[in-house]
Amino acid sequence: MSTAPAAASSSEFVDFWNDILVPKFVKYRHILVGGLTHHSERVFPRLEVREGDKVVDVGCGFGDTAILLAKRVGPSGSVLGIDCCEAFLEFARADAAAAGVTNVTFVEGDVQGYPFDSTYDFCFARFGTQFFENPVAGLRSMRNSLRPGGIMTMIVWRTIDDNPWLGMPREIILRHLPPPGEDARTCGPGPFSMADEQMVTKQLEIAGYDEIEFERIDAPLMVGNTVEDAIGFQLALGPAGEVYREAGAEAESKHDEIVAALANELAKYVTDEGVVMQSSSWKVRARNPA
Ligand SMILES: C[S@@+](CC[C@H](N)C(=O)[O-])C[C@H]1O[C@@H](n2cnc3c(N)ncnc32)[C@H](O)[C@@H]1O
Repeated sequence: MSTAPAAASSSEFVDFWNDILVPKFVKYRHILVGGLTHHSERVFPRLEVREGDKVVDVGCGFGDTAILLAKRVGPSGSVLGIDCCEAFLEFARADAAAAGVTNVTFVEGDVQGYPFDSTYDFCFARFGTQFFENPVAGLRSMRNSLRPGGIMTMIVWRTIDDNPWLGMPREIILRHLPPPGEDARTCGPGPFSMADEQMVTKQLEIAGYDEIEFERIDAPLMVGNTVEDAIGFQLALGPAGEVYREAGAEAESKHDEIVAALANELAKYVTDEGVVMQSSSWKVRARNPA
C-alpha cells in the first residue's frame, strides 16, 4: 500500500479529536463501529460503486467501511481512506493487512483542505462530515475529489429527538449538571449539524453538487454490551459525555447519583443483544455535475 502526502491540520476541532476523543473512541470502538454499521449496511447494497472504481472514504475512522469498499471495487479499483486522526488509521491499516486487502490506502489529513486530484468515481462518508469547521468547504473539497459525474454519498445523523440513544442520556445528565458553556472545547459543529434537510441541501448546492437526494434510515443501535458499558460510553462520548466532561469537578462529585439515574433509564432497553436503542440518520446522495 502506498501512502499519499498528508495535509497538515489547521483546526482546533481536529486537535480536539486527536487530544480528547481518540482514546475514548478506541475504548468504545465496539459500540461505535458496531452501531454505525447498522446504518451503513442499509445503504451499502444500493451504493453506486462498481468494480474497478476509485473511491474515497472521508472521515474513515477505524477504516471498516473503506475496507468493505475496497473489497467491492476489487483489485482493478482502489480506495483512499482519509481521517484527521492518525491513531484511528493505525487500526485501519492493521485490519486491512489482516484481511489481505491491498487496494486501500489510509492517509491522515483534514478533508476541508485536502489536495484531491478530481479523479475519484465515488466519495463516501459514514458520519464523517458533521464535524467540519466549515461544512461548505468540506463538502466542496469532497466534490473536488470527484471526476465529472462522480457521486458523493454521506450518512449523517437526523435530529437529537430522532436519536434517543444520544438525547435521553443528555437529558438525564442535565438534571444533575449545567449545560456546557459557550467556550466549551468541542469536536466541531457536532453530530446533529447536518440534520436539517433544507440547510444541507443549500450547503451542497453552494459546494457545487446537483442531483441531491435524502433518504431516512432508522435502525436499532447497541449502545453497550451491558448497562455498565452503556453508562461508561455515555459519560465519555456524545452530547451527554460533553456535559459530563465540561462540568469537571462538579461531575465527579455527582458521579454516583448520575450513574444511578442513567442505570435506571438504560435498564429499560436491555435485550439479549445488549442495551439497544433507536437511532435515525439521513443517507444523502449528490453528484458532481457532469
Ligand atoms: C463519528 S466518527 C466516524 C468514523 C467512521 N466513518 C465510522 O463510521 O466509524 C467521525 C470521524 O471523522 C473524523 N474527522 C472529523 N473531522 C475531520 C476532518 N476535518 N477531516 C478528516 N477527518 C475528520 C474523525 O477523526 C472521526 O474519525
